Amino acid sequence: MYSKTVMDHFSNPRNVGVIEGADGVGEEGNPVCGDMMTVYIKVKDGRIDDIKFQTFGCGAAIAVSSMLTEMAKGKGIEEAKKITNKDVAEALEGLPKNKLHCSNLGADVLHKAIEDYEKTKA
Ligand code: FES
Repeated sequence: MYSKTVMDHFSNPRNVGVIEGADGVGEEGNPVCGDMMTVYIKVKDGRIDDIKFQTFGCGAAIAVSSMLTEMAKGKGIEEAKKITNKDVAEALEGLPKNKLHCSNLGADVLHKAIEDYEKTKA
């Protein structure tokens, strides 16, 4: 079943919403189920100063997005790039086997948002 941490992040997701004028935006759909995840970042002095997400998906995907934003907030860009989908799933104390695909998008979407930021900056 779901861990307490998953239930907590699902029932009380952190950092939900949109950042107007974000420095980077990453968006992706999960090929397994079609769920969508978007991550917005605001960067200040090389750090992720603010991060928000919008996820149209299952409870596990919402918990993954919420945990991801907590893990990335305040991190330097290079550090944030190192966060993996596995790290997020582990921080959630695992996901049921048939829900593991739900953790596939989290870090990927963050990396896309960082790429978007770096492209715009260049
Ligand atoms: Fe689609 Fe979980 S069922 S992300």
